[in-house]
Amino acid sequence: MKDTSSVEMKNTTSTEEKGSELGTPKEKAKIAAFLCKWCSYAGADLAGGSRRKYPPNIRIIRTPCSARINPLFVWKCLEEGLDGVLVSGCHPGECHYTEGNYHTRRTFAVFRKLLEYIGIEPERFHMSWVSAAEGDKWAEVVKQVVKAVESVGPNRYFPKGNENDGRGTS
Ligand code: FES
Repeated sequence: MKDTSSVEMKNTTSTEEKGSELGTPKEKAKIAAFLCKWCSYAGADLAGGSRRKYPPNIRIIRTPCSARINPLFVWKCLEEGLDGVLVSGCHPGECHYTEGNYHTRRTFAVFRKLLEYIGIEPERFHMSWVSAAEGDKWAEVVKQVVKAVESVGPNRYFPKGNENDGRGTS
């Protein structure tokens, strides 16, 4: 009779090693998405209504305009242990409040540099412009964001935020 214990042991170790990384069935990246209700939120709704497939890692927070999204919201998400954040609004020039997304674009361009300066990978923060008619684009944006966030692994800058998520801190 063939002895398979060594093979089984190897498979178990391999599964455990994979389980500690993002992107496996056991561990998925956790990403918050702040969406303007007039465009990106409606685009996400269209993607859902059209049954477009995209990764389920995103948790959506609806805002009245992308300009309502304070950089401290993004900071708090990372501090609480989320792996990435997406901010999405109307295309430049199409903000319902005229110039809101121009402020957003400038604010988060500076905020992104600040994140990089303090050593947080830029892959953890994303911005996009998605209209209410762009369900396909929304699905594509989510795929790209999830791929980028998972490429840099779990958020280990704020170990306190990861204490209770079962992933550990090392
Ligand atoms: S209303 Fe959508 S970005 Fe301002």
